[in-house]
Amino acid sequence: MKATVTYVCSNCGAKASQMLGRCPVCGEWGTMVEEVIQTGAPAKGVRQRSGSVVQKLQDVSVTEDQRLDMHCSELNRVLGGGLVPGSLVLLGGEPGIGKSTLALQVLMQLQSAVTLYASGEESVKQIKLRSERINGNPENLYIVAETSLEKILEHAKSLKPEVVVVDSIQTIGTEAIEATIGSLSQVRECAARILQFAKETNTPFIIVGHITKEGSLAGPKVLEHIVDTVLQFEGDQHYMYRVLRAQKNRFGSTSEIGIFEMQQDGLREVTNPSELLLSSNRDGLSGISIAVAVEGVRPLLIEVQALTSSAAYGTPQRSSTGFDSRRLNMLLAVLEKRIGFKLLTKDVFLNIAGGLKVNDPAIDLAVLVAVLSSSMDIALPTDCCMTGEVGLAGEIRPVNRIDQRIGEARKLGFSRILIPAGQKYQPAKGIQVIEVARVTDAVRLLFKQSN
Ligand code: TYD
Ligand code: MG
Repeated sequence: MKATVTYVCSNCGAKASQMLGRCPVCGEWGTMVEEVIQTGAPAKGVRQRSGSVVQKLQDVSVTEDQRLDMHCSELNRVLGGGLVPGSLVLLGGEPGIGKSTLALQVLMQLQSAVTLYASGEESVKQIKLRSERINGNPENLYIVAETSLEKILEHAKSLKPEVVVVDSIQTIGTEAIEATIGSLSQVRECAARILQFAKETNTPFIIVGHITKEGSLAGPKVLEHIVDTVLQFEGDQHYMYRVLRAQKNRFGSTSEIGIFEMQQDGLREVTNPSELLLSSNRDGLSGISIAVAVEGVRPLLIEVQALTSSAAYGTPQRSSTGFDSRRLNMLLAVLEKRIGFKLLTKDVFLNIAGGLKVNDPAIDLAVLVAVLSSSMDIALPTDCCMTGEVGLAGEIRPVNRIDQRIGEARKLGFSRILIPAGQKYQPAKGIQVIEVARVTDAVRLLFKQSN
């Protein structure tokens, strides 16, 4: 056997014959890692499945596989209605965000089912300590501290669990190849073997993978096409909210999110996010506006906070947490061009309260209004929330699920909501729906000053 060395980008999987500082394909810096390939070894991934048969598509019966209820409505929702037998789920996220807690807690909640939690990171004592923080006393949860993939699969074979968690993919290795544990080839090979085992035995696996902020740690990115489902666990470590997002799902929609709260005794499902995300004493504070966003299919009321101040140094700062900073810059340009508001010499800070990251462009209007409110130091009326995407011409563009948004605003006691003009909606009792066509209309309405 001969070993050759190639260099692989841990971000996109591109190969190069020499070490490069920057990946020529995806353009990321410092992501190339060395990979040793054993030539002469049987080609990986080309394993013959015995007895495959060709059949007509119309002859394949379509009885939906029975999904496994995870006893956690937020997780079930993100998975698309439960865990599909034989599927491979990658649970990714930054270190310390709560992946191990989530995985262990979910297994603990599966009371009657036999489950296996294999950890390459913690000893059984440490797992026990963690489980003691989380309430529950599962009878059929088996744990093992193991870094050898072969051993883990052996245990799974004899135990026949209904779900297996492998925590984490970067800390286990297979004896089949020589690469070090955590290297790209180990991670990829282990995942491929787990996949094969999962499909053959119809056992679902949840594999945990660490991703750093830069996405540079070997692994998860190159695994995305191997696994069936990629779940991303995100949030700010300093806040208690965690969002579980499906980035890829062969068995469901990717627009769903699950919201959790990290507490002393583990993660708690958040079923009424809007109530928690709004602070109760906003009266008289400038720079705060309330947006109605939709994440997945769920409407959420979100508090947008902005602060503008005179720039102390030459170049003004633009900083944003939980909102795309390029989009913030675009909105500031609209503000300047369409409303004539000069922010050139001002620092602008934007924050989505609660540490959430919001992707819905319908919060544009609230962002813009919050910046204006802080800049003029005029508080917004507290009974009014808003939804609408802002276009470059200063027009307010339609948003999806308008009735749900209005309904959520009404439920949380708002008496007025601004929505994009011309959008069809069902009038609801108890809330006044105000259509606005341009940002100038919204500003005039909210600030009642001559602009
Ligand atoms: P952990 O699940 O170890 O994160 P990961 O596996 O993603 O690296 O949990 C991280 C944090 O969660 C840790 O700082 C402690 C905190 N935590 C709680 O607040 N409450 C709990 O009940 C548990 C188990 C952990
Ligand atoms: Mg962990």
